[in-house]
Amino acid sequence: MALQIDENVPSSAATPSNYDSELEQIEIELLLEGIYRHSGFDFRAYAYASIRRRLWKRIEAEGIATVSGLQERILHEPAMMERLLLDLSINVTAMFRDPSFYRVFREAVVPTLRTYPFIRVWHAGCATGEEVYSMAILLQEEGLYDRARIYATDINEVVLQKAKAGIFPLDRMQEYTENYIAAGGKRAFSDYYVAKYDGALFSPTLTRNVVFSQHNLVTDRSFSEFNAILCRNVLIYFDKSLQSKVHGLFYDSLAIFGVLALGSRESLRFSPYEDSYEQINGPEKIYRKVR
Ligand SMILES: C[S@@+](CC[C@H](N)C(=O)[O-])C[C@H]1O[C@@H](n2cnc3c(N)ncnc32)[C@H](O)[C@@H]1O
Repeated sequence: MALQIDENVPSSAATPSNYDSELEQIEIELLLEGIYRHSGFDFRAYAYASIRRRLWKRIEAEGIATVSGLQERILHEPAMMERLLLDLSINVTAMFRDPSFYRVFREAVVPTLRTYPFIRVWHAGCATGEEVYSMAILLQEEGLYDRARIYATDINEVVLQKAKAGIFPLDRMQEYTENYIAAGGKRAFSDYYVAKYDGALFSPTLTRNVVFSQHNLVTDRSFSEFNAILCRNVLIYFDKSLQSKVHGLFYDSLAIFGVLALGSRESLRFSPYEDSYEQINGPEKIYRKVR
């Protein structure tokens, strides 16, 4: 398993100093095998360091002493399995995250999309949906929304329910407004939501053409042919072999000249599909399938 830095987990969730690291690895591998065989969620090839810290965070929170102790609980208590699955899927996201990405998408991808009578976009690993609403706004402003169908998928049903609800924290609207402007937004960002209690409820017109559905990139198959696939800040948590597997899924799911967009710290480099794409924009990790 690959080692990766994961800045989203507090470092306090650390392995106890007296814990034997070989034993720990055996226990973690058995636990991940147990999760897979019991729930179907496959974290076996996820970045080890990230998984390890998340497990210890849950172990600490539950007052359990060992990884095997956690294994017993998740196999016998459905609610504990639920909690752990939530811990293991990292759902950090934002509207118009990396605004320059959306600016480049508008400038370099939208003109091609405009030539299609019907546009299919897939957000793989959409988390709570901020990315999906951002794309819906962009496509609406470019006059393309009515001929678009957006598929928004995630492994995690809980975050998908939040995405469907379209209510985001009011205290993040300032940040999102700044992102929207930097992303080349053409209206007032506040046109898209109404403040309700401490939430911002986004216009249902933005999800009229969106299908939210659970999909596991590791175990589920391709389900349509897309003109654009956005899978941003998901593959960073997978090891190389799993990344290659998912790139195979994206390759099979993209129409010729379809666009693949990855996160700022992700890349197609060294994947078996590197030669099947040309770069549309290097820094923004936007590629076009050419063969
Ligand atoms: C960090 S969020 C990225 C959200 C959004 N794409 C963005 O860039 O802001 C990663 C998402 O990937 C999802 N994920 C992790 N493993 C997955 C898998 N095997 N299949 C589908 N989604 C997965 C997680 O549940 C989480 O919501």
